[in-house]
Amino acid sequence: MNAVPQQGANATPGTRLASLQQWVDEVAALTRPDRVVWCDGSDAEADTLQEAMMADGTLLPLNQDTHPGCVLHRSHPDDVARVEHLTFVCHEKREDAGPNNHWMAPAEAHAKIDALFEGCMEGRTLYVVPYCMGPIDSPLARCGVEITDSPYVVANMRLMTRMGAAALARIEREGAEGKPLVRGLHSTGELDPDRRFIMHFPEELVIKSYGSGYGGNALLGKKCHALRIASHQARQEGWLAEHMLIVGIENPQGEVHYVAAAFPSACGKTNLAMLIPPESYREQGWKVWTVGDDICWMHPGEDGRLWAINPEAGFFGVAPGTSEKSNPNALHTIGRDTIFTNVATTDDGQPWWEGLDKRVPTKDWQGRDFDPARGPAAHPNSRFTVSAKQCPTFSSHAEDPQGVPISAIVFGGRRASLVPLVFEARDWAHGVHVGASMASETTAAATGQVGVVRRDPMAMKPFCGYHFGDYFTHWLSFDRPSAQLPKIFHVNWFRKDADGRFLWPGFGENLRVLEWIIGRLEGTAGARDTLIGRVPTASDLDLSGLGLDPGAIEALLEVDEAGYAEEWRELAGFFESLGRVPEEILPPR
Ligand code: GTP
Ligand code: MN
Ligand code: MN
Repeated sequence: MNAVPQQGANATPGTRLASLQQWVDEVAALTRPDRVVWCDGSDAEADTLQEAMMADGTLLPLNQDTHPGCVLHRSHPDDVARVEHLTFVCHEKREDAGPNNHWMAPAEAHAKIDALFEGCMEGRTLYVVPYCMGPIDSPLARCGVEITDSPYVVANMRLMTRMGAAALARIEREGAEGKPLVRGLHSTGELDPDRRFIMHFPEELVIKSYGSGYGGNALLGKKCHALRIASHQARQEGWLAEHMLIVGIENPQGEVHYVAAAFPSACGKTNLAMLIPPESYREQGWKVWTVGDDICWMHPGEDGRLWAINPEAGFFGVAPGTSEKSNPNALHTIGRDTIFTNVATTDDGQPWWEGLDKRVPTKDWQGRDFDPARGPAAHPNSRFTVSAKQCPTFSSHAEDPQGVPISAIVFGGRRASLVPLVFEARDWAHGVHVGASMASETTAAATGQVGVVRRDPMAMKPFCGYHFGDYFTHWLSFDRPSAQLPKIFHVNWFRKDADGRFLWPGFGENLRVLEWIIGRLEGTAGARDTLIGRVPTASDLDLSGLGLDPGAIEALLEVDEAGYAEEWRELAGFFESLGRVPEEILPPR
């Protein structure tokens, strides 16, 4: 009758929170692992796990002289990105999931995925991973427990969340008070794309993920909990869970403005969060402080401002394109104690990816001898996982329990044409329109075609856990008389010329745009009113020393009225297809 397996030698005994223990027992009965391990997050536990993964080839060594503590993981070649077509948000009512999500009735979804889980951990270990999203002592943080049979997932969760004993203590305390807990069940299964589902049950606060070991599908604290489930909770409770970086910009007077920015996957969040000011700005005293690079939870504070925490503890960043020139900060962050996934390697065992430097790798991401005819050496969505504490610019306020106050929200996308370098929304409602109107060229972060412009409101298309129309209404609801809301902006670093070259240098030079944004907050920077909002003129921006030709500057700051008329016709059709979109944010006709 009692199907609970024996505890392993280094397993901790479980929990005194009866509801949690019962769920773990039920899952163990369904999945039938050889043993159950409750993770405490200790160094000893991490070392033991790593040794086991090195022994069975889950992890491969990298050059320890150049990259101490770093390891390589090669995923199954069919398991390299999020799988949106297999991701479901299973509200009780179909219309609550909205046309922006795939939906299945909860009972049907449970039945379908539980059938896959049945006996799937035979011969394996079941790990119970208690975690906290956000600083462990923050009232804004939320806890969850992930059950997984993947030690790679445990190792990643250890870097990406506050995982282990402290989280379990908070979970037990909150459980005694009757506070809800997010429960996630994960198995890598057979890694067969035909037996793969990522399912969310927002009303139950439950996630079930089967058949993938990739970060966004398998590290359930991240996209599944901190965005899809949390966005649903945030709507009910009056806050926002967003796909945004958080960065502090310190001006030469020593004042820090915190900016939250939503760009779609692989469109520059990690890079902006770790920006290093250009030489001339550094000399004047500008500094940039990293708070978060992917997810932002914002709550209205007593002072009416929005206060934000980064629910994550680490970075799961895109490797390709990261170099000493584009993002030296990231490069220093990942110089030690980092898990690399699907990168290439050099002859002396160093991790390598396209855009890093001029060396030629010897092994590609699948471990084959590198042959350029087969495509890039590193997978375009290869990633690094690393503790945020290793970032040289990690903000001393990143762990503040109350979060940091947000002065500006920035939306942005990857648009080769039409959308100017930067503009400011006229007010909150217009800003919500600007965010809801976002579109971007698709990238390798999700499976499917790359480079097609698609609508991605607030960069949340893959992550909003409920109906987009209701989501926009929720955003509008923050505009209350007592609110001191951030100003809203839109940027586009990705405009191209006729030859397909980027018009804007990007990366560190993006600080010039942030300087204008801060100038707008302080009332010191100029702008002209246009039909899309307030756009700087060339003289409102500091473009000195960039050597941009006047044609490029004009193109970056022009507002193409005919182009926007066309864009808005298309947008109106998109909003209509969504339904429930509030009148206030419809495009002008
Ligand atoms: P996720 O982690 O998937 O959510 O993506 P992200 O938004 O953090 O994207 P990331 O910062 O990793 O950037 C992705 C790609 O965009 C990399 O190849 C970068 O080199 C490139 N990139 C980032 N910022 C800029 C920029 O300002 N200009 C240009 N041209 N490319 C950029
Ligand atoms: Mn992301
Ligand atoms: Mn990122």
